[in-house]
Amino acid sequence: MNKVAVYPGSFDPITYGHLDIIKRGLTIFDEIIVAVARNSQKNSLFTTEERVGLIEDVVKEEGRVTVDTFSGLLIDYVSSCGAHVIIRGLRAISDFEYEFQIAQMNSTIGQQIETLFMMTSLQYGYLSSSIVKEVCSLNGDIDKFVPPEIKKALRQKYGLSEIR
Ligand code: COA
Repeated sequence: MNKVAVYPGSFDPITYGHLDIIKRGLTIFDEIIVAVARNSQKNSLFTTEERVGLIEDVVKEEGRVTVDTFSGLLIDYVSSCGAHVIIRGLRAISDFEYEFQIAQMNSTIGQQIETLFMMTSLQYGYLSSSIVKEVCSLNGDIDKFVPPEIKKALRQKYGLSEIR
C-alpha cells in the first residue's frame, strides 16, 4: 500500500524551506500531496491558483508530488485523500506552541490522523514566506530563499525588473 502524506500550508509563496521538507518527506513517504489552504486567515499576495501553479512549476521533476487545494477542516481533507499523516515543518521554538495546539486539536477531532513534525534544516530555520516577500519588495536579493521561478513571480508582483 502506498504511504501518502499531506503537507498543508499557505505557501504564499513556496520557499526552499518548504521544498526541503518535501524532499526529506519523500524519503519516508511514497507520495506527498502539497495542499494549499484556500481559507487561510492570512492576506495572501498570490491567489490560490497562482500558488498552486508556482508549486507545480517547482516540483514538476518529482513524479511523487501532487498539488491540490483544500478548504474547511484539514483533517476532513486528509481523510478524503485516504491519507493518515500530516507533515509539518518545525522551525524555531516559537513554532512549537502553535503547532502543538493544532496537532492536538487535529488528533482529537480526527482520531485516525497523525501529525509528523520535521525539523527544518538549519539554513532555513529563520525563513518564512513573509520575510522573503518583505526582502523582495525592497528589491533585496532572495536567490538563497526561493527558486528562480518564484523569484520571477515575486518580482513581477512588486513591479520590479526580472533581474536584480
Ligand atoms: N521552512 C521555511 N518556512 C516555513 C517552513 C519551512 N520548513 N514551514 C513553514 N514555514 C513558514 C511559512 O512560509 C509561513 O510563513 P508566513 O507566516 O510568513 O506566511 C509560516 O511558516 C507558517 O505557514 P504555513 O506552514 O503555511 O502554515 P499556516 O499557519 O499558514 O497554515 C494550515 C496552517 C493551513 C495548515 C492550518 O491553518 C489549517 O490546517 N487550516 C485549515 C483549517 C483547519 O483545519 N483548522 C483547524 C486546525 S486545529
